[in-house]
Amino acid sequence: MTSTAVTTGPAIDATTTAPALEPDLAVPPSPVPFSELLRTRTRSGHGTSSRAGFMSDLMRGTCSRDDLVRLLVQYWHVYGALEQAAVGAAAHPVAGAFVTDRLTRLPSLEADLGHLAGPAWRDHLDAVPATIEYVGRLRGAASSSPTAFVAHHYTRYLGDLSGGQHIGRALRQRYGLPDEATSFFTFDGVPDPTAFKDEYRARLDSLPWGEADEEAVVTEVLHAYDLNARLLDELDAERGLGAERGLGAERGLDAGPASGAPVGAVS
Ligand code: HEM
Repeated sequence: MTSTAVTTGPAIDATTTAPALEPDLAVPPSPVPFSELLRTRTRSGHGTSSRAGFMSDLMRGTCSRDDLVRLLVQYWHVYGALEQAAVGAAAHPVAGAFVTDRLTRLPSLEADLGHLAGPAWRDHLDAVPATIEYVGRLRGAASSSPTAFVAHHYTRYLGDLSGGQHIGRALRQRYGLPDEATSFFTFDGVPDPTAFKDEYRARLDSLPWGEADEEAVVTEVLHAYDLNARLLDELDAERGLGAERGLGAERGLDAGPASGAPVGAVS
């Protein structure tokens, strides 16, 4: 018995070139992972924060010890509020997945401040206006809205595990500061920051949130970057450098050395 080939259409002629398929009709576009969309949509905010004159000075070794203390004092306020918000968010079915003790920074900030400013560091906790606004946002929106919480969590901790690692190295190498004074920048609970960030981005990519919620995260991250940039600008203004840098421009790249003794020079 001879078998009959069953064909459902014309045989494919492998020798002819198939007409190009309209790419957008043939294959549905693969959705951009949320972590990638978030990074792309907030890139400008990151540029503004990371180019702040204060950060440039810190990285190149021209800040004073007082400057560093002022920065860590602002962070002490910010992380106090962020980590308080995390306590509340821990029980949330979605936001809670981001909360982990491995990231907690407040004890490290307190240890660094004790080392750099002495045992009376709590007597000098003045916050600049942007810090006060930042704390208000963390106690308000980030403590009541899971999207705002995730946005603020992402902006600070992924930043600390990225640029923060470079800053910590600069503080140790350029200023000769010991590990005990720079522990804020070292995550003992995260020995492999790259692997941790990959997992974090995978978590962002599996958020069960729709477009409106994703949009809310993007907007809040941009807000967080703005608060961080203003905080740094206001620290610059305290040093008498805000006006001469021209806020909003390519800040800090051509600024002269900061006043005050270098961090490493003061015991
Ligand atoms: C001198 C200052 C800074 C430098 C040199 C710097 C550098 C970097 C670098 C190299 C990355 C990419 C890391 C990677 O792909 O894994 C990064 C990512 C990031 N930075 Fe910064 N940064 C600085 C300041 C800041 C500031 C002030 C913030 C905000 C608080 C911030 C928030 C972030 C965030 C959230 C990411 C993760 C972006 C993502 O991959 O989704 N950075 N930074």
